[in-house]
Amino acid sequence: MPNFPKKLSQKLEQRQHENALRKLSTSSRLVDFSSNDYLGLAKSDGITNHWESLVQKFNLNTHSATGSRLLTGNHPIHEAFEAFLADFHGMDAALVFNSGYDANLGFFSAVPQRGDVIFYDEWVHASIRDGISMSKAQNYKFKHNDIADLSEGVLRIKKQGKLQENTEIYVATESVFSMDGDSPNLLEISAFCEKEGIHLVVDEAHASGIFGDGKGLVHELGLSENVFASVVTFGKAFGQHGAAILGNENLIQYLVNFARSFIYTTALPPKEIASIWAAYLVLEQQGQKYIQDLKENIRFFLEKAETYGLQTHFIESTSAIQSMRCSGNDNAKATSDFLAKKGFDVKPILSPTVPLGMERLRFCLHTFNTNEEINQVLKSIQRFNAS
Ligand SMILES: Cc1ncc(COP(=O)(O)O)c(C=O)c1O
Repeated sequence: MPNFPKKLSQKLEQRQHENALRKLSTSSRLVDFSSNDYLGLAKSDGITNHWESLVQKFNLNTHSATGSRLLTGNHPIHEAFEAFLADFHGMDAALVFNSGYDANLGFFSAVPQRGDVIFYDEWVHASIRDGISMSKAQNYKFKHNDIADLSEGVLRIKKQGKLQENTEIYVATESVFSMDGDSPNLLEISAFCEKEGIHLVVDEAHASGIFGDGKGLVHELGLSENVFASVVTFGKAFGQHGAAILGNENLIQYLVNFARSFIYTTALPPKEIASIWAAYLVLEQQGQKYIQDLKENIRFFLEKAETYGLQTHFIESTSAIQSMRCSGNDNAKATSDFLAKKGFDVKPILSPTVPLGMERLRFCLHTFNTNEEINQVLKSIQRFNAS
């Protein structure tokens, strides 16, 4: 067996030492307070029915796309679904990517050019940061959800007089942040970007399917025409896999030509596109009920957090993600382990995923969580804190 490089072993040992070693585990039989299947669509029978109709309608008889979209992998259902998506989300056009990770990587590595500038919220998802790190544009982070800090940064670089006439500025944020479930003031950010001639890019991974009757927070706030691009993912509320970038026709044409994570990969299989589309059809027909049930569970969770005196530990959020501050990897892990023993799957978010001292316990709420489960999990935390 070839030797494993010593410096890599040392990095693993360091992780172990920090109680931060990542390990794979199969999903447990515990009560689910951790998956992204917010609406419970991953197991919906309705999806199977719509899926079968789409498979018939598009005569889908292959298990693979068989190539990149630009070679043999482009099937009529890909294009029909993209037209549906653009219409559903109220944008001009859409382009499907194999995952949200690929969508952000493709966009940020290809769109901002050398001489351009990207400002990004310090808490944006790793996929946006990785895309930015591949871009030749300059990049600056701004404080989380802090428009004053963003505007100071923009003014500063404008004053330096180093920008060329054709410099484009991009701002990247999320409509619901994946770690804390909180949201920026998108109306203000959008107004600021419009005033300064900046392109706003919003990752809607945790908002699509839930806000704006499933169309996303951008749509709910009437900002569809104000954002340069938004990213919706299918692996969260839609209970599927994959993602799309929404924007105007020129942007989509540009991405087809230059986004390497779109070009150099086998496309999603047509039957998988049918499954994602089926989830959208379920949402169109019964979304009101699903979304209402989820919102009721979020309301109940917040009410019970207050009952047990825990509300000050939680980061303010009205989304399905409720994060509790739980400083230190040991502490966050111990709390999560205690809850697991009580039958609840609540994941700790450890450093280095979040900065040291900002470790959290992240609750993902779902339509299928019962009031009793919500009550018991919060009561258990109160007991653990008191012990
Ligand atoms: C905000 C955000 N963007 C993008 C992604 C990546 O999406 P996907 O899981 O489809 O790769 C995630 C996933 O966790 C996310 O939270």
